[in-house]
Amino acid sequence: MHDSEPGLQNAAASRDGVKTIRAAVLVGFMGAGKSTVGRELGRQLSWPFEDLDDRIESQEGRSVEQIFRESGEAAFRVAEHRALQQLISGLKSEPRIVALGGGAFVQADNAALLESSGIPIVFLNASPEELFRRCEEQGTNRPLQRDRAEFLKLYEARHPHYRKAKFQVDTTGKDVSTVAAEIGRLLGLTAKF
Ligand code: S3P
Repeated sequence: MHDSEPGLQNAAASRDGVKTIRAAVLVGFMGAGKSTVGRELGRQLSWPFEDLDDRIESQEGRSVEQIFRESGEAAFRVAEHRALQQLISGLKSEPRIVALGGGAFVQADNAALLESSGIPIVFLNASPEELFRRCEEQGTNRPLQRDRAEFLKLYEARHPHYRKAKFQVDTTGKDVSTVAAEIGRLLGLTAKF
């Protein structure tokens, strides 16, 4: 893709105005499919995919679960913000599809950082019951998953934050490639099959 083509040559020009950031960030609750869909969208567009949690884990030399257990959520959020800052600075050199962990966009400093970058943000949603079912099925160790009631409560508390994303896609009942293609269309990107 060239800079003159439509799509994600958004207003996120760097300060010197020479480069533009070509990226999309996927946000949403646990179980929304941010990483799975992001990886597929990256494949469709031939853009690299990055999961912010993976960057945190390699920077910290510990798994997300370990960071929560050994240092607590506040320490995780500090590491998450640092990783996001670094990730955004690196976006000037190459395009990327990025998946954030479920709590990242809820943090005001992260939301402000993303907002000022101009990178399109896509909220992947599904009903909280559906999200809970997916998380249960996946069996991944998510420190904030807890029981059903807590899960639904956290979803309700976070939903107003996710809704600040410019784009929203409902993933209920759709397969991964359909959701990825829908995002591509929504953002004016052409898939390269
Ligand atoms: C979190 C979600 C996780 C991970 C961490 C915190 C959250 O990512 O970042 O456990 O606050 O909802 P996923 O949304 O990919 O599970």
